Amino acid sequence: MRANEEAFLHYSLRPRLLVDVSERDLGVSVFGQRLRTPILLGPSGMQRLVHPEGELAASRAAAACGAGYVLSVGASHTLEQVAAAAPDSVRWFQVYLWDTRRWTEDLVRRARGAGYGALCVTVDSKAPGPRKYRDMRNGLTTIPPKVDARSALDALRRPRWLLGYLLSPPIRAAHLVEDDGKVGISLFKSPAVIQRRMGPAATWDEVSWLRGIWDGPLVVKGVMSSEDANNAFDRGADGVICSNHGGRILDSVAPSLSALPPIAEVAAKRGKEVFFDGGVRTGADIVKALALGARAVLIARPFWWGLAVGGQAGVSEVLDILGKELDSTMTMLGRRCIGDLDRASVEVMAHPFSHPKS
Ligand SMILES: Cc1cc2nc3c(=O)[nH]c(=O)nc-3n(C[C@H](O)[C@H](O)[C@H](O)COP(=O)(O)O)c2cc1C
Repeated sequence: MRANEEAFLHYSLRPRLLVDVSERDLGVSVFGQRLRTPILLGPSGMQRLVHPEGELAASRAAAACGAGYVLSVGASHTLEQVAAAAPDSVRWFQVYLWDTRRWTEDLVRRARGAGYGALCVTVDSKAPGPRKYRDMRNGLTTIPPKVDARSALDALRRPRWLLGYLLSPPIRAAHLVEDDGKVGISLFKSPAVIQRRMGPAATWDEVSWLRGIWDGPLVVKGVMSSEDANNAFDRGADGVICSNHGGRILDSVAPSLSALPPIAEVAAKRGKEVFFDGGVRTGADIVKALALGARAVLIARPFWWGLAVGGQAGVSEVLDILGKELDSTMTMLGRRCIGDLDRASVEVMAHPFSHPKS
């Protein structure tokens, strides 16, 4: 996770001077849909954990700010509720490869019906990652949840959150299916259920299968090598997300940013799209990822911070800050639009910046 953030410090920006940048357009087109800013809120389950309106608030903020929204299959609102909350949004739906295709098939049909513009399949999560230790320490993996003195004190110090949590309906994983077929699994059961469903046997054949049942844009998330980008494109994917899952899955894997250039090269050769996530915290970070070949970036933690603090307004504020930083960086870089960014906009530094970022 730290390496993701620090990887940006290895690149510096190369400004071009005295370019007329009085008219700037920072929008991008993504599979034929227009985003006013090259950002999507990345798939991340259970957003009601930090705010009672969870995914509804975040997707409304994305729509209002001209960003995209990727709804996780592990969400605490249903895909229909999220579509109704922000009907005019650019929204994608993210699935995992479960051992039972029937459930995924059903969700894919519902996503099409609810107007999701792309299907994203996350393929990097065959085993629980290092975050399981933190989840265990925080009592998130036992039923009922383990509330010790530390977590009780933590909750009491945040009375607004506690009140919201107590006064709103119990948090459930809205799309998850129990062994007995019951839909909507309790927050505390869901990590185990998600893990059980994600069989380690899945291969690229599953991507071909998804290709067969989804006729819109298909994006494979979690790609960290040019070989796997080629595999995804061979199986009919329209794009890949270069991502190490925010460092939450395989500890010691490379930072996403160092995997981006070779993947972008493959995507460009094959006329496909590449998106990027992992450690994006500033407008300059966005510029660097786009200069290295990404069409747009996804963020997760930064919008969760905004969601936790202020619901929809908090997420909008995060997007607004990033948008303003992006705009001023582009202005000083002498680039009018996202299409002006290329490899010549950044430079690998012999001696990386060493200051802490966040
Ligand atoms: C709380 C949380 C939940 C997440 N849940 C999912 C998920 O359900 N599906 C998925 O593909 N990625 C999930 N991710 C990973 C993000 O989509 C993304 O790859 C990563 O967090 C990006 O890095 P960043 O947090 O530094 O922006 C989650 C990340 C966080 C922080």
